[in-house]
Amino acid sequence: MRGSYLGLGLQHGADGEPLIYANFISSLDGRIAVDDGSGEMAVPAAIANPRDWRLYQELAAQSSVMITSARYFRQLARGKAQALLPVDSDDLLAWRAAHGLSPQPDILILSRSLEIPPEALAPFAGRNITVLTGGQNDPQRRRRLLAAGVTLTAGTTVRQWMRDRHHASGYAIAGCGVLHTLLTTGSLDRLFLTSHHTLLGGGHMETLLRDPLSAPVRLQLRQLYLDQQEEQTFADYTLQPQANA
Ligand SMILES: NC(=O)c1ccc[n+]([C@@H]2O[C@H](COP(=O)([O-])OP(=O)(O)OC[C@H]3O[C@@H](n4cnc5c(N)ncnc54)[C@H](OP(=O)(O)O)[C@@H]3O)[C@@H](O)[C@H]2O)c1
Repeated sequence: MRGSYLGLGLQHGADGEPLIYANFISSLDGRIAVDDGSGEMAVPAAIANPRDWRLYQELAAQSSVMITSARYFRQLARGKAQALLPVDSDDLLAWRAAHGLSPQPDILILSRSLEIPPEALAPFAGRNITVLTGGQNDPQRRRRLLAAGVTLTAGTTVRQWMRDRHHASGYAIAGCGVLHTLLTTGSLDRLFLTSHHTLLGGGHMETLLRDPLSAPVRLQLRQLYLDQQEEQTFADYTLQPQANA
């Protein structure tokens, strides 16, 4: 399985356009996050597994920027988040170097509230961190983030921001709010979905999308792998062109 996603050529899109892809692991009944027992929403422990994690890392290795949510940093500050952002294996670090990429992807955070504890950003020193937000924010939070070396940007889409900053490849690793934003602003090209063959049940859960879409978004399956060892499938979908028109 090693290398299955590394050869996909996700380092850039066609015709000089950025390529933006998202990745999720879900139970068969559609859960991407459940209550971890302490009131925190987290990837269900029953479906998270090292084989999927390796492919998560292979997707990260090809990106110039990772796209995530402010919530992730709030959870990190409370010691409740797993380390999602580093490319952490030697072969993938070597792969990045061989392909002319910086050791670690930059970080783009989506946040309306700007409630991002600066101490949660400290582990990512040395990487360019940008927060994409709305126009009206708490001035004190703005100042705190600027003092932490973060760039604040408003009034643009993820795709346009990537074009402006010459980012060729963006990997979205947040949940349903960020996925909805990417879809409704024409900022998603490809979706990777691991379906773990497990039923979880329970009403306190997150799934791929919560908020309504103005029209159904159709996807085309490019590849489907069956992992018989872990009993999960790895699907690779492209958004139909009109979704990003
Ligand atoms: N199974 C999986 O593959 C998978 C993948 C990703 C996440 N998850 C899990 O899903 C749960 C939720 O993840 P998440 O909180 O990252 O989900 P999310 O719903 O994508 O992110 C929520 C936060 O993103 C910010 N945001 C979203 N859209 C925005 C927009 N248009 N403009 C500005 N800010 C925007 C908001 O920040 P502010 O509140 O600061 O305004 C919001 O609180 C977590 O437990 C996570 O572990 C699972």
